[in-house]
Amino acid sequence: MISKRVSEMLSSRVSYPFARKYAIDVGKAINLASNESPYGPSPRVLRALKQSSARIGSYPDPRASKLKLAISRYIGVERDCVAVGNGSDEIFDLICKAFVDPGDAALIPLPTFSMYEIACLINGGMPKFIELPNFEWRTAELAREMSAVKLAFMGRPNNPTGNSISIQGLNELLGMGKLVVVDEAYVEFAGYSIAKQAPKKENLLVLRTFSKAFGLAGLRVGYAVGNPKLVEILEMIRAPFSINTLAQAAAVEALRDRRYLRKVVTAVRKERTYLRCELSNLGMRVLPSDANFLMIDVSPLKTDASKICEFLAKRNILIRNLSNFRGVGTRWVRITVGTRPQNEKLVQTLKKFKGGRK
Ligand SMILES: Cc1ncc(COP(=O)(O)O)c(C=O)c1O
Repeated sequence: MISKRVSEMLSSRVSYPFARKYAIDVGKAINLASNESPYGPSPRVLRALKQSSARIGSYPDPRASKLKLAISRYIGVERDCVAVGNGSDEIFDLICKAFVDPGDAALIPLPTFSMYEIACLINGGMPKFIELPNFEWRTAELAREMSAVKLAFMGRPNNPTGNSISIQGLNELLGMGKLVVVDEAYVEFAGYSIAKQAPKKENLLVLRTFSKAFGLAGLRVGYAVGNPKLVEILEMIRAPFSINTLAQAAAVEALRDRRYLRKVVTAVRKERTYLRCELSNLGMRVLPSDANFLMIDVSPLKTDASKICEFLAKRNILIRNLSNFRGVGTRWVRITVGTRPQNEKLVQTLKKFKGGRK
């Protein structure tokens, strides 16, 4: 009964690599494993949610008109250049539904966010993986693969490496004419973007989310910016009510409270520098990052990712073991930048780990 496409995907056993569950109360733990904002949403968003709760007896606006207008002003593009989705996760799926035929290849540089692969497979596509040498972006190597694929996914900044293909490199790939999906989930922390240029390009979709800097991961709102022709296709195949009333209202208010956004971004950048410095002082190798997380080689501490994650989890601190990310290996972890007290607790606990190992 099951379709060939889904059956193939199930037999390949590819699924979202959830963080390992530890026997601890996650509510009490310091969660530095999911790249969420440790500051949560703006208080103004919480007030807007209360007000809009009176409207949940009715269906949401299927076109999300107010939200699209607010996003278009935030980016500086026309409203018809914006598509919305139930998190960017839904939009990755819509893109593959719309543009991938069975057997088409999608270029996926590794390591990266696993939803690109999952969306591609579930829609009958074939991931074409290419490993980033030393976790660095080399345009020439990516360009060589572009001719054989239908589309390419690129995190900018990329999860978990925290770095990005250069703007020159990206423009070179775009010049090859294939559809390029640039995922800017962490753009607010990075401060560079290609979204404003997307409407003028025939083959660029830029994806963004309210799950990170805006602190709305639980409400599921993402969006795509691009040429109106591409955007319209995504909107036409999206389920009409996929972004609920509360989510739409919260995202609109989050965009209005720019002061709060600036405060969060400034704090995260400051803490990123602090954490990188402290972890480097402990002897770990920390990759530079433009996002709200750091990718770290723990092998200088004569350990591996699993052991250090286990040690921290027992002390109620969750970080991400990257050994179940494709193309990473057993030495690397990813740590979300937390608040100063959270980061201090992490560093103190790692000092104990290091002390105990000597
Ligand atoms: C690179 C990247 N893109 C997209 C997402 C998911 O965004 P959303 O919550 O909007 O589905 C994540 C979440 O971790 C991510 O790391």
